[in-house]
Amino acid sequence: MDAKTNIALELIDLEPELEDFRQAVVEGLSSSPQKTLPCKFFYDATGSALFDEICDLDEYYPTRTEINILRDCVSELGTLIGDNRLLVEYGSGSSVKIRILLDQLPLAAYMPIDISREHLQQSAQRIAEDYPELAVLPVCADYSQLTDLPVYQKNPGLRKVGFFPGSSIGNFTPEEAQHFLQNVARQLQPGDGFIVGVDLKKDPEILHAAYNDAKGVTAAFNLNLLSRINQELDAEIDPTAFNHEAAYNDSHGRVEMHLVSKTDQQIRLGDDQFELATDESIHTENSHKYDVDEFQQLADAAGLKPVKVWTDENHWFSIHYLER
Ligand SMILES: C[S@@+](CC[C@H](N)C(=O)[O-])C[C@H]1O[C@@H](n2cnc3c(N)ncnc32)[C@H](O)[C@@H]1O
Repeated sequence: MDAKTNIALELIDLEPELEDFRQAVVEGLSSSPQKTLPCKFFYDATGSALFDEICDLDEYYPTRTEINILRDCVSELGTLIGDNRLLVEYGSGSSVKIRILLDQLPLAAYMPIDISREHLQQSAQRIAEDYPELAVLPVCADYSQLTDLPVYQKNPGLRKVGFFPGSSIGNFTPEEAQHFLQNVARQLQPGDGFIVGVDLKKDPEILHAAYNDAKGVTAAFNLNLLSRINQELDAEIDPTAFNHEAAYNDSHGRVEMHLVSKTDQQIRLGDDQFELATDESIHTENSHKYDVDEFQQLADAAGLKPVKVWTDENHWFSIHYLER
């Protein structure tokens, strides 16, 4: 056996209970006039794998654009961050982007936080194998509910830097984003940094293509939420009775994803029944887009001071370095 495969990682498991998932689904399907489902539940093992496929799509510009910006700014980031830090990544997924930082910067420890347990474990394992000097501390948790970060017992005083790529901040409404950033600020010490990737406002046609890819991977990702509910919550929902819909909502500055009922139908979840009329939708995700100034004001108001921002030449995506 390869010596690299021997590293045993201990997962800190704060995963939301199945009951929380059921309650969120019942609440979302009961809400009127707009039914909703929280996007954090997209990510079971299938959803995480589908998201990785989305990242490789031609139409999905955010991933490659953010990676290119990161490559260009990594040495400046290194100077801002300082040496010997614990890097906390919120929503680490496949832990791909972090490798750009790990390859160049002398980080001491890495705490990937993700709600998708199996995917997190596999990604963290690969990082531990590829970076044997790095302490890897995976945490399965809902970052929107996490008030305190778990303590790194071997070095509780290690200074931190936060990392939140992928424009996942856009899944929050601006009010929720502000609340999340205030929480992050509390998890950091004065002087600690926070690196956040934020998708920028742009031509709605580019956005439309990114969320309505020709291969239908984003549609499969959206519809998988219904399959997950069937599998985990004793539900009877026919995913083929729904269409994927994603459109830019100009007044809110966000792409909204919906699942639209093709017919009048009843869906069952345990003992609960929900009625959907033809064309009625379930709102499953928001992806808010920001101007650079707009985001900086939001961060500043949350107690994270904008220090530096990098964008690509098209001004499609931005990476912000904020300081507590
Ligand atoms: C849009 S993907 C981004 C993945 C990766 N950071 C990137 O930039 O490519 C969102 C990731 O965050 C995780 N996630 C979504 N909502 C979460 C939550 N509330 N708490 C923890 N993880 C969450 C998902 O499982 C997924 O891995």
